[in-house]
Amino acid sequence: MKLSALALLCATQLTLVSAASQNTKRHFHVAHNNRRQAPTPSSSASSSSSSSSSSSSAASHVTTTTTTSVAVVTPPSVTIVSAATGTAAPPLSQITMGMPTRVPPVVTASFAVGASAPISGAPALPTHFVFQMNQWPQEDHIPDTNSPEVQEWLKELDGFNIPNLTPTTDGSCAGDIEAAAQAAQRGWWTCGGYTRSTDIVACPDKLTWGVSFDDGPGPYTQNLLDYLKTKNISATFFVVGSRVIERPNVLIEEYMAGHEISVHTWSHKPLTSLTNEQIVAELGWTRKAIRQVLGVTPTTMRPPFGDIDDRVRAISLAMGMVPIMWTRTPSGGVFDTNDWRVAAGQATGTQSFQTFQTILNNASTIDTGFIVLQHDVHEITVDLAVGYTLDAALTHNPPFNLKAIGQCTNTPATDMYFETTKNTTFPYSNRTTVDVDGDGKSETTKGAGKGNGAALTQSSILTVLFGAVVAASSSLILF
Ligand SMILES: *[C@@H]1O[C@H](CO)[C@@H](O)[C@H](O)[C@H]1NC(C)=O
Ligand SMILES: *[C@@H]1O[C@H](CO)[C@@H](O)[C@H](O)[C@H]1NC(C)=O
Ligand SMILES: *[C@@H]1O[C@H](CO)[C@@H](O)[C@H](O)[C@H]1NC(C)=O
Ligand SMILES: *[C@@H]1O[C@H](CO)[C@@H](O)[C@H](O)[C@H]1NC(C)=O
Repeated sequence: MKLSALALLCATQLTLVSAASQNTKRHFHVAHNNRRQAPTPSSSASSSSSSSSSSSSAASHVTTTTTTSVAVVTPPSVTIVSAATGTAAPPLSQITMGMPTRVPPVVTASFAVGASAPISGAPALPTHFVFQMNQWPQEDHIPDTNSPEVQEWLKELDGFNIPNLTPTTDGSCAGDIEAAAQAAQRGWWTCGGYTRSTDIVACPDKLTWGVSFDDGPGPYTQNLLDYLKTKNISATFFVVGSRVIERPNVLIEEYMAGHEISVHTWSHKPLTSLTNEQIVAELGWTRKAIRQVLGVTPTTMRPPFGDIDDRVRAISLAMGMVPIMWTRTPSGGVFDTNDWRVAAGQATGTQSFQTFQTILNNASTIDTGFIVLQHDVHEITVDLAVGYTLDAALTHNPPFNLKAIGQCTNTPATDMYFETTKNTTFPYSNRTTVDVDGDGKSETTKGAGKGNGAALTQSSILTVLFGAVVAASSSLILF
């Protein structure tokens, strides 16, 4: 009964998310500085029923459950949807908003608590994540900045020079003329593409594509993982905290398959428009969710919409996260596939793929490699990736070398996580411990070495238990 309640809850939340796709909101925001329309409901309505089976099957992975609820929520037909070869994607001309949706795939593998992670020195997989609503901020909302956790994380800014920039009105150039006029001084990417040397903006080697997917884990991410596996491609996943707590098992699949995990905020708002405290909350809760599911803490992040300036940079770096953007060419080309516009009904699949082909052509002419914006949160964007874009890059002449972003920048895999990095200057933080869970005690030690995280987790559980016993007995004595 609890399980079905959880499934229903997740389904409701998913419906809300689909109905108000973050990217869609942003587009209207940027274009007109007001949210005057919502996307037509057809795709959200049709995806909500499928979402419910996805979230319940995810939930059934977490909690051992009765066969009855599995039978109800997971029809046997789910096995037909594997897009492992890429050929299962619909014809390009049919990829548009409102296209018939297919049943989401089931998560194919499951990893035992204590399984070894693929990163040298990483802690073993922690205890299965069980979602408890009162332990997390409301999904897709900016978390409360007065919580004890955020107050702890704010201490990470001590000793760092955080530029005193006024938050932008809405993270868009048109929405804030004053900030736009200072874009160069602010190092504001959104408005003119300004970057700093601490940003990762491309892969150094020519014809090398640092592959990444944003905003998941989504209901169809498993199809993408199946495809990447058949092609032996590793990618970087910029995950949203609100999605991580919905689909922890998909995050585990990504990580255990050797993909890189990076922070993409809790509620996917333009970070330059938030206060310092809100930015800390957005990054802190996402980092906490990832560590609770995987046992590791990413040392990198990507700002939603690429919306970063020197204030957002300084906060990310102080918290131990190096920003990763996507490539802009010297001629002003932005490597955004616009796949999210297809999901939002603002472009067709054919148009998005044409954009991608332009990107590949431009990428062949620049002296470095490149990074492209793509998404795994929508069925449509996964279809475009597994059916079209990845294949086009693999079969391109000259061929591209597809790698995860850490790999293409020659960052050792161990440097992608705080617990495993041995590099004193990556991330750019002099901190050696971080209180990722925000309980007032630093439990995460830089480069801590094998199994340390798990061991610490267990000992803190024991401490808690002993503490409870001591408290109970002393209260007995006192009473
Ligand atoms: C898969 O890719 C890795 C490099 O990322 C390479 O070392 C390995 O040999 C590849 N395996 C196959 C089966 O192609
Ligand atoms: C590709 O390059 C052309 C010519 O420099 C430029 O106009 C266009 O914006 C670029 N497009 C992309 C997607 O990079
Ligand atoms: C540590 O990271 C910095 C910044 O990315 C890099 O320049 C340096 O080479 C790294 N050092 C080692 C030992 O990997
Ligand atoms: C980190 O430590 C080095 C050397 O102690 C110092 O030069 C640098 O300013 C520190 N960085 C920050 C961001 O505090």
